[in-house]
Amino acid sequence: MSARPRVIITRKIPAACEAEAEQRFDAVINRDDVPLTTDQLKEALRSADALLPTVTDKVTAEVIATTPRRVRIVANFGVGFNNIDIQAAKASGLTVTNTPDVLTDDTADIAMTLLLMVARRAGEGERHLRAGQWTGWRPTHMLGAKVSGKSLGLIGFGRIAKAVARRAHHGFGMRILYTDPFPPKPEEAKALGAEARATPEDVLREADFISLHCPATPETRHLINAERLKLMRPEAFLINTARGDVVDEAALVAALKAGTLAGAGLDVYEREPAVSPELARMENVVLLPHLGSATLETRVAMGMRAIENLTLFFAGQPVRDRVV
Ligand code: 8YV
Repeated sequence: MSARPRVIITRKIPAACEAEAEQRFDAVINRDDVPLTTDQLKEALRSADALLPTVTDKVTAEVIATTPRRVRIVANFGVGFNNIDIQAAKASGLTVTNTPDVLTDDTADIAMTLLLMVARRAGEGERHLRAGQWTGWRPTHMLGAKVSGKSLGLIGFGRIAKAVARRAHHGFGMRILYTDPFPPKPEEAKALGAEARATPEDVLREADFISLHCPATPETRHLINAERLKLMRPEAFLINTARGDVVDEAALVAALKAGTLAGAGLDVYEREPAVSPELARMENVVLLPHLGSATLETRVAMGMRAIENLTLFFAGQPVRDRVV
């Protein structure tokens, strides 16, 4: 029997990470790449020393309570950890880690991609051309909204929001507004030309583009609801690269239908992989399949970061990215 810690990796991860994990641990990799069921997750917690899950694995209080539990650490592949019941983990002495920093730039890039695509009607234009409907250039064809020089409101001002602000302010000359219960250092905000606002409502009322960058917690669930959507300017766009449940998707559909906002660019959804069919029919909505961190470089970096957290934990050293 191997003395190396047994680690269950719930999905396929980049080959370099799989090789590294197999070298360091007794790694069991779900090469079928089908999400584990609740029962399979419970079995994993009973049969291994560590679990390396992703956003598709719901490590609930019920899963954590399985007995006899052998797993001592859950090294999440991802910075967001709303797939894990952190209170239950804490209460039962389970260590949880995540993978911050390494996906900041890619996620900010996807936020800008969505912002540019929805404002400049890029998805709609591509569909139009591929459908053979383009009859030629004309001065009034498919006019979008200008991005440069507009205002961008950030709900949450953590690492990813700041990276978006850097791109938007220094690349596109955008005015940056933000709201966050944990304000940044004044010099940091100043370098990004970012002005604080007291509440999400203040940002929603004022900005041409709204981009969401808060974690998914019970407090932020449906933060963007029917009432707050009404505060947005009719020419404004909503961008979400955070988590789907921060937005009440049904309320967003209703607001888009009513025209209280101009459009939306979404990378995340309330019931992934399901997307409201009505959203999929709207031309003024850009929909991506949760691609925020989806570059080879970043997915390798995420895997290596999770492996590093496991390595430190099993070496009895302080883990770098401890959540609890
Ligand atoms: C990941 C993400 O792809 O890291 C996160 O929080 O949303 C994504 O970039 C996903 O979570 C992988 O588990």
